[in-house]
Amino acid sequence: MGIDLTGQVAIVTGAGGGLGREHALLLARRGAKVVVNDFGGSRDGTGGSSTASEQVAQEIIAAGGSAISNGANVTDYAQVEAMVADAVAHWGSVDILVNNAGILRDRTFAKVSLEDFSAVVDVHFGGSVNCTKAVWSLMRAQNYGRIVYTTSSSGLFGNFGQSAYGAAKMALVGLMNTLHLEGKKNDIRVNCLSPSAATRMTGDVLEEEKLTMLSPAAVSPAVLALVSQDAPSRKILCAGAGTFETTQLVLTKGKHIGLGENTAERILDAWQEIDDRELGGSEPEFGWAQSQQEIDGARASIPVGLD
Ligand code: NAI
Repeated sequence: MGIDLTGQVAIVTGAGGGLGREHALLLARRGAKVVVNDFGGSRDGTGGSSTASEQVAQEIIAAGGSAISNGANVTDYAQVEAMVADAVAHWGSVDILVNNAGILRDRTFAKVSLEDFSAVVDVHFGGSVNCTKAVWSLMRAQNYGRIVYTTSSSGLFGNFGQSAYGAAKMALVGLMNTLHLEGKKNDIRVNCLSPSAATRMTGDVLEEEKLTMLSPAAVSPAVLALVSQDAPSRKILCAGAGTFETTQLVLTKGKHIGLGENTAERILDAWQEIDDRELGGSEPEFGWAQSQQEIDGARASIPVGLD
């Protein structure tokens, strides 16, 4: 068989149900020893019980795999550190981290309380930061690591009523971009998954036919690809119903229009050209590329002989 995770240790957060459960089951089927983490709360993040993660761990063990359940709340760094220590105590390392835990508290920005806004950011973004921080030095020391963040089309493209959720999901893209650069020399590959699946998070807004097509199990192969030895890095892989796409951040070629009192007006006049990705857009390797392109644009505009 192709991707073989035998001997590798994976942590999947929020794996007591929905997508996380399917990810955990698939990684275990491919040989990984899996820490099945779940805080076991309701969809809005309240409550909490470790029953769900225990059931999934038992399911893996019953199928001949290796798993331990863990009830850590990913927003609590001490609990996350203890989870990683537990994985290391059982199996000696952590090779794969799939950040999947999440909650929803949808409200328009006009109505959302700052408390709910922070709670959503804390789980999706803070939880991912905590889990990454807890495994980062370990992965660097072993010169190997595969990390997946679960972003969302609601962050990448926006969704009415999901300002907190979307902002947290997009923050993960920023985290990925830099950790990809910082992890490169130790073969730590960092990617984002943008799933589309019928789970308790989305089930009540989808009709029957779509519910069937968008099974969570159809997303998990994307995770398996992103945590494999041959995984790409710094990609946003979208997955749903057996279709896989990537989302990319494009810097347009732009237009050097120079400076002066009426620059703002000339920006609007040149908008089509500034905004046109077909004219030679690129996805820069790192942030400085934007400044370099701007400097190049300014240099190219200086008349020959005046350089
Ligand atoms: P889900 O609600 O079934 O699963 C989320 C799991 O995370 C739950 O089992 C929950 O107990 C756990 N969890 C919540 N807070 C936690 C915490 N503080 N610590 C540990 N575990 C915690 O939802 P679903 O759909 O499976 O979502 C999984 C991930 O995929 C989430 O990050 C979600 O935002 C993301 N996502 C899902 C989409 C979909 O179409 N279902 C679309 C885009 C993103």
